[in-house]
Amino acid sequence: MAMPPIPPPGTPGSTQAAVVRIADIGSSGYTSLDEGSRLPAGVGLMATFSVQPIGHVRGGREVPEDDDWGGSEARIELDPKRFTKEALEGLDTFSHAEVVFVFDRVGDGEITYDARHPRGRKDWPKVGIFAQRGKNRPNRIGVSVCRIVRVEGLTVVVGGLDAIDGTPVIDIKPVMSGFAPRGDVTEPAWAKEIMAGYW
Ligand SMILES: C[S@@+](CC[C@H](N)C(=O)[O-])C[C@H]1O[C@@H](n2cnc3c(N)ncnc32)[C@H](O)[C@@H]1O
Repeated sequence: MAMPPIPPPGTPGSTQAAVVRIADIGSSGYTSLDEGSRLPAGVGLMATFSVQPIGHVRGGREVPEDDDWGGSEARIELDPKRFTKEALEGLDTFSHAEVVFVFDRVGDGEITYDARHPRGRKDWPKVGIFAQRGKNRPNRIGVSVCRIVRVEGLTVVVGGLDAIDGTPVIDIKPVMSGFAPRGDVTEPAWAKEIMAGYW
């Protein structure tokens, strides 16, 4: 069955949850793979895509500084146009959530594509952007594990979220021990040092 074209972002019909838009290919021959995504026939990889924020960080710190995040408390407020409180039902039975967000205050000219010294520290090794967790990354995606303080309607109050006021949030997942690393975690010395004053 032929699928209708996906409306461009910002037009009526484009604001449903989980819309993944294939931006750079023609509109013919869409195949429905599941309820939320449509891929053109014969195309196995998405070249570009857009993701709508599910909500925003409100409160907490206002300036993107490096350390002392442990005591921060903030709210994640879901978009009331797209969600009801049912989207958060049961989240309060978990102690922690993994929050996926966008470093929206990083400018185009700040992005690192290759290797750099973490925080510019020459006494630490130069490592690739995908071997560190700096904010200046190509897709500007941040992932943080934080404490769930409480859930109130469309709001999750979180502790220790290292995202500033206004940050777009693109997903929230409960932390499940079964998804924790299996086996020993190893890391270089600089990775331990960089975290010394972080929380
Ligand atoms: C080093 S990154 C790590 C984030 C996350 N824990 C991760 O591993 O992906 C965290 C830093 O990003 C900065 N930051 C937080 N929110 C930001 C935003 N919306 N735009 C740009 N920088 C942000 C803050 O300076 C914070 O110290």
